[in-house]
Amino acid sequence: MIKAKHLSKQFGDLTVLNDVSLQIKKGEIVAIVGASGAGKTTLLQILGTLDTPLKNATAELLIDETDVLKLKDKELAVFRNKKLGFIFQFHQLLPEFSALENVCIPAYIANRNKSEAEKEAKELLAYLGLSHRINHFPSEMSGGEQQRVAVARALINKPAVIFADEPSGNLDTQSAENLHDLFFQLRDKFGQTFVIVTHNEELANLADRKLVMSDGKFL
Ligand SMILES: Nc1ncnc2c1ncn2[C@@H]1O[C@H](COP(=O)(O)OP(=O)(O)OP(=O)(O)O)[C@@H](O)[C@H]1O
Ligand SMILES: [Mg+2]
Repeated sequence: MIKAKHLSKQFGDLTVLNDVSLQIKKGEIVAIVGASGAGKTTLLQILGTLDTPLKNATAELLIDETDVLKLKDKELAVFRNKKLGFIFQFHQLLPEFSALENVCIPAYIANRNKSEAEKEAKELLAYLGLSHRINHFPSEMSGGEQQRVAVARALINKPAVIFADEPSGNLDTQSAENLHDLFFQLRDKFGQTFVIVTHNEELANLADRKLVMSDGKFL
């Protein structure tokens, strides 16, 4: 599903990512852990095409068989919208839109039929136990509820991969556990692939693979 080779990144003369390679299979849940500043977010942003690696002859990033380093900006935006889902520590829902609208936005951007998108968004929200919250605004939901809306938003276009950066970092223990269970359910039911940066030991140990980063490399 993901084949990354020789990814590096520098900020000025600081090397933040140092020749990282990895492969991730469909349906795998991979956890990336490591100390603060190790380069986890930088790697996730590059894998998620939100940032670019150092251009060199050997750098390679294939996602779902697409060579994303070769895509132009517009093609990349379309690819990201259709193929990738994102969940961040702070849900980043749009405050002036309801739960249902937030979930539908990536589908609208993909020019999908409005009523179909809404129907699917409602089904997803129901699956995530949020049927009673579809017309609530983010400020009217708990942290765990907001994060589940963010999960539904990440899922709406049936992405090949979901990238999550500290998805439970802002949640209480119970909500975090529920969110983690949900990731595994989505994997078991739909074969959803996840790459998750986390400081949560429990989640990292449940993952199919735990990759430890230190100084811009895997240990
Ligand atoms: N835009 C930037 N400009 C300069 N330095 C940056 C930039 N982004 C990140 N860095 C540096 O790169 C290093 C790695 O940052 P990164 O955010 O990837 O760490 P992290 O492993 O996600 O840490 P944390 O667990 O605290 O989120 C840090 O030393 C950081 O200061
Ligand atoms: Mg980080």
